Amino acid sequence: MRLFTSAGFLAAVAFAAEPFLNEADTGLVDYLLGTNYTEGTLPLLKDMRAVLDFDYAARQFLDNQKYSFYRTAAGGEWSYRNNLDVWKKVMLRPRHLHDVSKLNETLPVTFLGYNFSAPVFIAPAARGAYANPERAELNFVDAAAKENILYTAALYASKTIEELAAQKHNDTMNGPQVLFQQIYTNANFSVTWDAMKRAEETGAKAFVWTIDAPGDSTRHRAARYDTTNANGATSALTWDLYDEIKSRTSLPVIPKGIVTVEDAVMAVSKGAPAIYLSNHGGRQLEYSPSPLEIAYEIHRNAPQVFQQVEVMADSGVRYGTDVLKLLALGVKMVGLGRPFMYANCYGTEGVEKLIQILKTEIVHDGAQAGVTDLKKVPRSLINARPLEANVFLMDQ
Ligand SMILES: Cc1cc2nc3c(=O)[nH]c(=O)nc-3n(C[C@H](O)[C@H](O)[C@H](O)COP(=O)(O)O)c2cc1C
Ligand SMILES: *[C@@H]1O[C@H](CO)[C@@H](O)[C@H](O)[C@H]1NC(C)=O
Ligand SMILES: *[C@@H]1O[C@H](CO)[C@@H](O)[C@H](O)[C@H]1NC(C)=O
Ligand SMILES: *[C@@H]1O[C@H](CO)[C@@H](O)[C@H](O)[C@H]1NC(C)=O
Ligand SMILES: *[C@@H]1O[C@H](CO)[C@@H](O)[C@H](O)[C@H]1NC(C)=O
Ligand SMILES: *[C@@H]1O[C@H](CO)[C@@H](O)[C@H](O)[C@H]1NC(C)=O
Repeated sequence: MRLFTSAGFLAAVAFAAEPFLNEADTGLVDYLLGTNYTEGTLPLLKDMRAVLDFDYAARQFLDNQKYSFYRTAAGGEWSYRNNLDVWKKVMLRPRHLHDVSKLNETLPVTFLGYNFSAPVFIAPAARGAYANPERAELNFVDAAAKENILYTAALYASKTIEELAAQKHNDTMNGPQVLFQQIYTNANFSVTWDAMKRAEETGAKAFVWTIDAPGDSTRHRAARYDTTNANGATSALTWDLYDEIKSRTSLPVIPKGIVTVEDAVMAVSKGAPAIYLSNHGGRQLEYSPSPLEIAYEIHRNAPQVFQQVEVMADSGVRYGTDVLKLLALGVKMVGLGRPFMYANCYGTEGVEKLIQILKTEIVHDGAQAGVTDLKKVPRSLINARPLEANVFLMDQ
C-alpha cells in the first residue's frame, strides 16, 4: 500500500507542471553557507554574479514592506511569472563558424538620435529610496553615466526632477548625459503639464508616457503592507490625450505599455517616434502578455512597425539571452525594472555591476550564438514556433 501511494505520488509529481522558480539555483545560497555570511544581511557585492542574485540580496536586506513593494505584481502574479518563464519556450539557433571577434564593437546603440554604449536601459520605477534612503535614484544617474546607458526617470521617483537633473554628468563618452522622463497623466491635467515643464526645463530629452494604468491594480502582496499606489492618475486616457500631450512639448513622447499589435499600429499612425512594449513587470493587469509575446504578435501581424518606429521593451528581462531574443524580433532597447531597484541596495557600485553583467552576457552569449552584429541580430536566431501556437492573428 505504502509503495503504491509513493508510486502514485511520484507519478503525480512527474506529470505536474514544473514549479515556478523566481530565480534559478545557481549556487548562491550554498556558496554563502560556506562563507561567514549572516542571513538577513546584504551579501558581498563581489558574490553577485547573476542579475537575479540581486533579488536574493534585496530580499535578505530589505524589510518585508519595502521588498514587497518592489517585488509585487498583479493578481496571482501569473503574468509576472510568465515574464520570467516565457523565455524558455524559445530556443536559440546558434550558427557556428561565423567570425564573431568584432561583436563587442557592435554593442553601442543609437536611440532617437542619442548614442548609448549598449541596448539596455534602466526602466522607470518609483521609490528608489526604499533601497537607498539617502541617494535613491541619484545612484541610477551616476551608474548610467559611468556605464553610458539610458536612464528613464520615474515621475514618482524619490528624488525630484530637479535633483535628478542636477546629478547629470556632462562628460560621458557621448557627451552630456541623456535622461528620459516618465510621466503619468494626473486627473488634474495642470499637475501633468507642470511636471512636463519642469522636466523640459531641466533638460530631459524625451517623455515616456505610461498608458497602462487607467485603473487601480490588484496587488495583494503590496496591499498586505499598504504599499499600493494611490497617485491620482486619470482614467480618461485616450489617443486624443496623446495629441494634447504632444502639443505641449517639443520633445518626443513615447507611449509605454503597448501590449497589442493594434495599439502599436495606432501609435505609429499617431506619429509616435518610438513605442515601449511592456506589461509593467506584470504589476498592472494579470494576464497581460510578456514582451517576447508582444514583439512576436507585432512581428507576425505588422512587422513594418519595427522599421517605422524605434521599439523599446521591458518586463522579465534577466539574462543576456533574453535581450538577444528581443533584438532578434526587432526591438532596439531593452529595459529592466526590479533588478535595478534591488541592485541599488549596494548603491552606485551595485547598479554599475548589474549593467556590466548585462553587457558581458549580451556579448558572450551573442558570440556563442554566432551573432556578428548586435545591431542586426537575425530573426533566424530564435525558433519561435512555440509562440506560433498561441499568437493572435488579426485576420483570424
Ligand atoms: C517598484 C517598481 C515601481 C515602478 N514604478 C513605475 C512607474 O512609476 N512608472 C512606470 O511607468 N513604470 C513603473 N514600473 C514598471 C517599470 O517601468 C517596468 O515596466 C517593469 O519594472 C519591468 O519589469 P521588470 O521589473 O520585470 O524588469 C515600476 C516597476 C517597479 C518594479
Ligand atoms: C567575511 O569574509 C570576507 C572575506 O571573504 C571579509 O571581507 C569580510 O569582512 C568578512 N565579514 C565578517 C563579518 O567577518
Ligand atoms: C573587443 O575585444 C577585443 C579583444 O577581446 C579588444 O581588443 C577590444 O578592445 C574590444 N573592443 C571593445 C569596444 O570593447
Ligand atoms: C553641466 O552643465 C550644465 C550646463 O550645461 C551646468 O549647469 C552644470 O553645472 C554642469 N554640471 C557639472 C557637474 O559640471
Ligand atoms: C553616434 O554614433 C554614430 C554612429 O556610431 C556616430 O556617427 C555619431 O557621430 C555619434 N554621435 C555622437 C553625438 O556621438
Ligand atoms: C490642479 O493642480 C493645480 C496645481 O498644478 C492646483 O493649483 C489646482 O488647485 C488643482 N485643481 C484642482 C481642481 O484640484
